[in-house]
Amino acid sequence: KTIHILNGPNLNLLGKRQPEIYGTDTLDDVRTLCAEIAHEAKFKVELFQSNYEGAIVDQIHEAREKACAIVINAGAYTHTSVAILDALNTFEGPVFEVHISNVYKREAFRHHSFISGRADGVLAGFGIEGYGLAVRRVISLLAKD
Ligand code: DQA
Repeated sequence: KTIHILNGPNLNLLGKRQPEIYGTDTLDDVRTLCAEIAHEAKFKVELFQSNYEGAIVDQIHEAREKACAIVINAGAYTHTSVAILDALNTFEGPVFEVHISNVYKREAFRHHSFISGRADGVLAGFGIEGYGLAVRRVISLLAKD
């Protein structure tokens, strides 16, 4: 079973980008953390990142065939993208929304998420550990299937 971990714009710069907000861990660190957690439970993870909205939609379509669950940090598209919400609504498995920062402590435009209405759970403000917690939750939901 494979969990797809999807990342939106600017997250390729994780570790370098505004470290006072997002920390110094990189997307490679996210991959390693999630792969270790998944491995113990005989799950796999695949990590994707794109700065393009349509590419993220394509990655969600790919997940329809290949993934048992989606963990998504859509970055700024969280707050703007009906297209990503619509794509997630075509996916049948669990979806968890992750934000590295606590978006509720930040500007008001970050308080609304189009994705939360589809997500089975939302993690914000746990740093990159949020991705690991989401993977743990997927495992506890799906390990028996
Ligand atoms: C983010 C929060 C978003 O508001 C922002 O646009 C990001 C990253 C986070 O992980 O905290 O790019 O999703």
